[in-house]
Amino acid sequence: MNIQVYKNYEAMSLAAANLLAAQVRLKPTSVLGLATGSTPIGLYRELIRQHQTADLDFSRVRTVNLDEYLGLAPDNPQSYHYFMREQLFSGINLQPENCHFPDGCAADFDQETDRYDQLCRELGIDLQILGIGRNGHIAFNEPADTFPVPTHVVDLTPSTIEANRRFFERAEDVPRKAITMGLGAIMSARRILLLAAGEEKAEAISYLKQGKADPQVPATILLLHTNVTCLVDEAAASRL
Ligand code: F6R
Repeated sequence: MNIQVYKNYEAMSLAAANLLAAQVRLKPTSVLGLATGSTPIGLYRELIRQHQTADLDFSRVRTVNLDEYLGLAPDNPQSYHYFMREQLFSGINLQPENCHFPDGCAADFDQETDRYDQLCRELGIDLQILGIGRNGHIAFNEPADTFPVPTHVVDLTPSTIEANRRFFERAEDVPRKAITMGLGAIMSARRILLLAAGEEKAEAISYLKQGKADPQVPATILLLHTNVTCLVDEAAASRL
């Protein structure tokens, strides 16, 4: 795995944005896999800047997001749909019909998980952006005895619920469940960029150096992928 260490969050975000922008310039019909959370915010800010000042064109790009909380409708300010509109989509020229999410309010989650896997297969992800949880989760593939492959509904672990607490006013409002892309669709991406910033990610990142795929640290499945670039700031690299 190619691990690149940057001085700080801004430098890491700029490097990630430049890679993603290159992908879109080389292939204007790219399919991008997108993540939410604090980590990609700087990357999204820079993409908006490059769209506004350097003609970075997203009109033919398609996107698939990693996950959504269960029971939160797209217009709920805590939903990941809303987050993406706020942090990226409203500042660039993606066509709304080209932006896809798993549906956290689906009537039938068996059908919805199948639909999302099929969609990801049909589109074919060119470049997948990932953050990483303190417990090593990617998307909401939480530590388990085996690597979860299909899109699925997941009970978030106490550590993830605690980490997500900062986005909600009251602890009881933090969703306990999510629908998440599984590791199958993530690993099918042609290229993956994993981003991590801050000391609280250092332990999870340190497992990527050990070379052992362990479902208790879901991100270690990335060791089996041939095209992963891991961009970290110095704090996240502090245990490498
Ligand atoms: C978000 C996602 C999660 C986050 C991870 C890190 O769509 O799938 O895996 O990437 O929880 O979150 P932050 O970036 O907030 O530390």
